[in-house]
Amino acid sequence: MDNEIRILGIETSCDETAAAVVCNGKEVSSSVISSQIKLHEKYGGVVPELASRAHIEKIYPVLKDAIARASILPEQLDAVAVANRPGLSVALIVGLTAAKTLSLVWEKPLIAVNHIHAHLQSAMLEADALELPAAALIVSGGHTSLYDCRNCLDLKLLGATIDDAAGEAFDKVATILKLSYPGGPSIEKAACNGNPKAIQFPRSMLGKDSLDFSFSGLKTAVLYYCQGNDMKAPSRVNSMSENEIADIAASFQAAVIDVLVKKASRAAKKIGAKTILLGGGVAANSALREALEEMAEASGRKLLVAPRKYCTDNAVMVASLGYYKYKAGMFADMGLEAKASGEDSI
Ligand code: KG4
Ligand code: ZN
Repeated sequence: MDNEIRILGIETSCDETAAAVVCNGKEVSSSVISSQIKLHEKYGGVVPELASRAHIEKIYPVLKDAIARASILPEQLDAVAVANRPGLSVALIVGLTAAKTLSLVWEKPLIAVNHIHAHLQSAMLEADALELPAAALIVSGGHTSLYDCRNCLDLKLLGATIDDAAGEAFDKVATILKLSYPGGPSIEKAACNGNPKAIQFPRSMLGKDSLDFSFSGLKTAVLYYCQGNDMKAPSRVNSMSENEIADIAASFQAAVIDVLVKKASRAAKKIGAKTILLGGGVAANSALREALEEMAEASGRKLLVAPRKYCTDNAVMVASLGYYKYKAGMFADMGLEAKASGEDSI
């Protein structure tokens, strides 16, 4: 017997089928991700039925690969952790069924993990020390949420998007600008050559104390801009120069970042945060990372950002959070369900 606690993590909440083995919450023994980007590309967003079918096809090879790469035998695992909420129910259910089956057959405890909280875990993965409390900003394709984090199992939801998530806005604006899918990376690339001050797009703050977000008005403003303020007019995008597209991308990105940074700053002040945590797919954005770093530095706080490879969906973050739930004895039973919502349930 050794002292290592090895958790198998399973993630199928949206469009990545992923499995990972993580030791003692931090050491990554294996991480396997099968991405469905190619499958959903032509629709400009994730199609739930297609996602579910692809998860069913990939879950077994992905799991097999994760165990093989970790060079361990199933009996050396201590538990099976699975993201069971929030996400697409038809996608979550695939990972959950696999996790329950393995838990039963291998006689290992089952651990339920909140996908959003797992994103937050990515930001703590490589940190040597974490000063608490922390204001945690999770920005992904499906969620934009702010938490008061006292530790990874003590999180209070402070605010969330009331319409589109930040990543969703990137994806939709990329479709408007006829840029490739997923929109985040292609807007970031286009924005590099643009002027972020070229167009003053709206920043929806929802009142001076609100910690909620709204990005649908910004998306509509970009659409209006591309149609010359006439919703019935055809889009001018095809006749725009690359520079003009770059300016729109840069101005849109600046508007999103402005709101995210201001709200994160508000949350940090409100809870007296010592640290700011950033995770989720949009956290891969360099301009956002830089703007938050500046804000954190100016306010004497530390910024911890998820490593780029663990910003978008992965199972390392699920296994890592699973470890802390294992240590706390927080196990699930075979009645565990997949849930589409549940940002605030530990
Ligand atoms: O966390 P994630 O993999 O999935 C969800 O849990 O939703 O995030 C995917 C989202 C997509 O909307 C994608 O466009 C966005 O993250 N994203 C980015 C960047 N890379 C991915 N957004 C802005 N800049 C990026 N570099
Ligand atoms: Zn995610």
